[in-house]
Amino acid sequence: MFETTSRLMSRRAALAIAAGAAVRPPSVVAASHLDWWTHARFGMFIHWGVHTIIARDIWNMEHESIPPAEYKLLGAKFRPPVGGPRAWAKLAKQAGQKYMVLTAKNHDGYCLFDTKTTDFCATKQACGRDLVAEYVEAARAEGLRVGLYFSMMDWYHPDGIRCVVDNAARERFVPYIHEQVREICSNYGKIDILWWDGDWPLDARAWDAENLQKWIRERQPGIIINDRGGLKADFSTSEQKIEPAGEGRPWETCMTINGSWGYVAADDTWKTPRSVIGSMITSARGGGNFLLNIGPRADASVPEPSVRVLEEVGRWMSRYGETIHGSERCRVSRSNYVNFTRRGNKLFLHVTRWPGTVITLARFTSKVKSARWVATGKPVAFEQAREDDPREPSIGFPLYRVKFTGLPETAPEVLPVIAAEFESEPVQDLKFQRWGKK
Ligand code: GLC
Repeated sequence: MFETTSRLMSRRAALAIAAGAAVRPPSVVAASHLDWWTHARFGMFIHWGVHTIIARDIWNMEHESIPPAEYKLLGAKFRPPVGGPRAWAKLAKQAGQKYMVLTAKNHDGYCLFDTKTTDFCATKQACGRDLVAEYVEAARAEGLRVGLYFSMMDWYHPDGIRCVVDNAARERFVPYIHEQVREICSNYGKIDILWWDGDWPLDARAWDAENLQKWIRERQPGIIINDRGGLKADFSTSEQKIEPAGEGRPWETCMTINGSWGYVAADDTWKTPRSVIGSMITSARGGGNFLLNIGPRADASVPEPSVRVLEEVGRWMSRYGETIHGSERCRVSRSNYVNFTRRGNKLFLHVTRWPGTVITLARFTSKVKSARWVATGKPVAFEQAREDDPREPSIGFPLYRVKFTGLPETAPEVLPVIAAEFESEPVQDLKFQRWGKK
């Protein structure tokens, strides 16, 4: 990915960078309504609903072909006590997350919000309360931005699948979806993110997505919309893997904390705090956000392993949040023991596998001015020299090899971070010179 970006970088741009010109990734000048979001970098995704009663995830309805009439019985069993969203919001804040996204409705059709469109919703089933209202209030109370996930695909509605082949069904179903979207965008004050999902089985035209999006933006000025509603909208989403979008395009990776979106009692494949932090760093390095999912149980409690992971991530963020929040796309990636994030001319070295007393990085197009430990502010010694590049002078600009020296033999802590201030934006020439790779 990064090699490709580098290859595409014109010789002129490379020279400008080498000369210290202010070359900034276009993501920095993104539309202003995205500024808080690109600065945030880290959010909490919450998959919750009646599927938690079965505890085998949302797709279980489809996999087991549960008829809607039978699935509806879950509505009588889903009666979460008050207070869950408050606990999630506190956990998110503690973890260093800046926004939350809750599944207002997933593919199974159960609405966590009050709606006039169906009785398969929290207010009209056993729960008897508007869970979206409780969530919005809880997120705001912790100063977090509010996102709502909404699935257009709906397996519960009788026309939800039939609409592909039956015009009359489509004419009933599309207004049903539009009305639900209008409700979630009208009844809860300011909504910061609309996170569409499942535009299957229709396309943008059949959904009348342009008009709906126009209406949403008028109703919710400043709302940030993802690309899963049939339109490109504001940002791209990659699921379970980190795939930076093209230069200048805002993007987000969403990832589960174990292997499931919704609560699955038997899923104990928990990621480690290290792996979560690593994915967050790699997303930030590519100029993207990281939306980490939790799947609370039916009673809204968060499985203890998730809590432990988030608490540990929070401890790391309380020391190193400055290396994530406000970070910009980074053109440095070459090392097999250091990962990177960047803010302005400052490069953060996240040392993932401690190498011993010296960290060596190479092929920088500008020079290091100073270096310090992020946690303590103490200086880190370094030396740098111009590389003897066989391609010079044809390459046209000098490259520098830097050694950070006098480091401890063993890692001072898990994932320690060094900040190196460069003379201009730190950029690595990523062409392979030894392997003849292009
Ligand atoms: C997939 C799943 C959906 C889940 C989403 C999260 O689209 O179908 O259930 O909510 O991923 O990104």
